[in-house]
Amino acid sequence: MLSPKEIQSLNHSLEGSEPKDILTTLLQKCPNTGISFSGAEDVVLIEIASKLPADIPVFTLDTGRLHPQTYEFIERVRDHYGIKIELLYPDAEKLRQLVSNKGLFSFYQDGHHECCSIRKVEPLRLRLASLDGWITGQRRDQSRTRAKVPVVELDTSFSSASHPVIKINPLANWSSAQIWNYIRMFDVPFNSLHESGFVSIGCEPCTRPVGPNQHEREGRWWWEEATIRECGLHRGNLDRG
Ligand code: ADX
Ligand code: SF4
Repeated sequence: MLSPKEIQSLNHSLEGSEPKDILTTLLQKCPNTGISFSGAEDVVLIEIASKLPADIPVFTLDTGRLHPQTYEFIERVRDHYGIKIELLYPDAEKLRQLVSNKGLFSFYQDGHHECCSIRKVEPLRLRLASLDGWITGQRRDQSRTRAKVPVVELDTSFSSASHPVIKINPLANWSSAQIWNYIRMFDVPFNSLHESGFVSIGCEPCTRPVGPNQHEREGRWWWEEATIRECGLHRGNLDRG
């Protein structure tokens, strides 16, 4: 397992590297690592990974609230690459309690954290208990909260004293334009919602298209303060300030 010092030094040495080289180096150091797949960036990661010798597990958090187009997209990616995509589900009892106490749209009243915690964060925590690392499509230019996303870090949100978890962000340095150039160049499948003004896509009730001159994450949890628009998957971004 990588020590904090090694992580720091790898982060420094890989800062200017291409995503393929970042993945290759870090998968050698931390082979028991999976790709967390949901959006356009993550298919770029799957495309890059498909050209590497490693067999990397791919999982997605099925919150039960995704758009029909997103489910269709997941199946298209599965067929296109001939890979297994593991769907992770929330705990049925916790979900039952939330919905019976607060209804299906409590997040509009008291914020998205409770629902995101049950539908996304806890299922991810369970999956990461059997992995040493996860790979995400976070980019620094996605929002102010992501401006300092490192290429590799110790994920303090999901690590414990006996089980450290590494978080790998191979696209940290890429812009949205680079992602979309890559998608077009390699005919990478994408969510059809992108053709209707959606840029950053999450759950259906918490995502809307963005208009001209709006930043890409402004359509996510739009009724909340921009500074807290991270669900618990990437809580570390808020701690970095
Ligand atoms: S979110 O936290 O606000 O939802 P965002 O949609 O920007 O995150 O995605 C950032 C990264 O988090 C994605 O590239 C992906 O690695 C991971 N991610 C987000 N949502 C999911 C999901 N439903 N399933 C798996 N991974 C996800
Ligand atoms: Fe719930 Fe919205 Fe979070 Fe999805 S994004 S888990 S619907 S609060």
